Amino acid sequence: MPKTFFITTAIYYTNSSPHVGHAYEMVLADVIARYHRLKGEPVFFLTGVDQHGQKVQQSAAKAGVPPAEFVKEVTQKWLDLSKKLEVKNDEWAETTSDRHKKVVQKILQRLFEERQIYKDKQSGYYSVRQEQFLTDKERGPDGQFGPEWGEIEFREEENYYFKLSQYKDWLLQYLNNRKDAVIPDFRQTELRNAVERIGGDLCISRPKSRLDWGIELPFDKDFVTYVWFDALTNYISFAGYDPSKSNIEHQTSSFLDKWPALQIIGKDILVPAHGIYWLIMLHAIGFPDDQMPQLLVHGWWNIAGAKMSKSVGNIVDPFELADKYGADTLRYYLMSDIVTGQDADFSEERLVERYNADLANSLGNLLNRTLTMVGRYQHGRVAFPEGAWLRNPDERATETYANNIDTHIKAYKGHMSAESTFPIPFTLPFTLGPFVANAAIGNVLGIADEANRLVEKTAPWKLAKGSDKESEARLNTVLYALAETLRIIAILLLPVTPVAAHGIFDQLNWKMELSGKEERFSLADAEWGRLPDGHVVGKPVPLFPRIEANT
Ligand code: MSP
Repeated sequence: MPKTFFITTAIYYTNSSPHVGHAYEMVLADVIARYHRLKGEPVFFLTGVDQHGQKVQQSAAKAGVPPAEFVKEVTQKWLDLSKKLEVKNDEWAETTSDRHKKVVQKILQRLFEERQIYKDKQSGYYSVRQEQFLTDKERGPDGQFGPEWGEIEFREEENYYFKLSQYKDWLLQYLNNRKDAVIPDFRQTELRNAVERIGGDLCISRPKSRLDWGIELPFDKDFVTYVWFDALTNYISFAGYDPSKSNIEHQTSSFLDKWPALQIIGKDILVPAHGIYWLIMLHAIGFPDDQMPQLLVHGWWNIAGAKMSKSVGNIVDPFELADKYGADTLRYYLMSDIVTGQDADFSEERLVERYNADLANSLGNLLNRTLTMVGRYQHGRVAFPEGAWLRNPDERATETYANNIDTHIKAYKGHMSAESTFPIPFTLPFTLGPFVANAAIGNVLGIADEANRLVEKTAPWKLAKGSDKESEARLNTVLYALAETLRIIAILLLPVTPVAAHGIFDQLNWKMELSGKEERFSLADAEWGRLPDGHVVGKPVPLFPRIEANT
């Protein structure tokens, strides 16, 4: 059995409802997870919610309900979102669960006993509004703290600290040795520069008098742990990590089978959270370098250049979009109109444009006319291409065609995975790393374009009029090639538009028995020539009706 492919998203704050930026991250992880399932690998896809902390406590207070109740309600919205968007996760993380709390407390206890956590007094300027100590970095050019910090007072507070700074050299060395610790490359450079600047240790607690919506420190009941040990540890606690075993080799086989994970995060939580705190935490609890997770850092969906945020009021609601256009269409847009790692501007007009151009015109048309022609000219039955026509040196159209499709399939695989990056025929102002779903989608469209060109070039409606053997052979070849192309397109589209992929398979009448596998879809079947001779296709049903403006 191959090793399980483990993929995670960040966990989402339950202080407010999800927006389309969060939906993007979930879908990106889902697409990669589905791609690996398509390859026949066992997959463990973990996503979930970050339920503790100040923001949640404050939002609950504002709503006038106890935090536990508030969190339950908001959590449901995230669960609803994953369902709505066809996100197929294998495990769901909730940081208020007992299972998680136990792991967090045991890890903290161990680090405390090993003296990697210590108590210290902090004194300095404190923002009451933002509930945090301020440093000189927060001062404006005039040397004063700006109005955004509200009332400032001098405070002295005892807290617990994790000895972060003693691991700075280790982290630098780890990043020097592993070039793909962070994807894309420029994010690894950014992280490395930030590691150089690590100064002090990490405050990991809050006195309960200030924050009580958190996990109690096992060695001091007057404190809860604050953010980092609470949230980041979800990636191992929900994968079956046993905190009583400091030697990783003694972990359960189910944990070892999954770990390390590919972790999908946004650019705002690489430094310091995941790139510094998380990697160092793992190292401190005994994870060797070859067991460090890989971080895939994506950009933001912006609105007119500004990040979506509740306070700015430029939130785009993914539920509304999915209701209006369908989950597949939203997934397709979110995957095709952004380069993984870069930012993009969200635009509903672009969503409609892309849908109409790519799915309705290019692919929908191809499906419709192929099935119509097979129905009309061949009573729905495709026949194996006849060799004679393919061997004719002047008529190698479908041979070249099959080769072109093969090239697209190879490129698609390269773009969807970490193993290879496929050279791209144009120059971009940045390096295109692995996991670029938009480029993979480009290859699927490239295949549909090839097929549409083949139709134009060979005009099957003219061939159908000819009564000679030659025309018949040509017609068979072209229609077989088109049906075969649609079968391959359906497989390649499955990770991105799962509903439509099943729709294409249904219309092609492609049954599970025909693939000879347990799963209906398999990447191994995305190979030219698997459609059997005499296969009977179904009737065309519009799968991607055009979206008219102002609907
Ligand atoms: N709870 C913390 C993460 C802890 S992980 C152990 C958190 N939550 S969040 O809800 O604010 O963000 C979750 C993820 O959503 C992050 O990876 C973040 O980058 C991503 N996004 C938030 N807004 C986004 C966009 N506008 N566009 C794309 N992704 C965005 O941070």
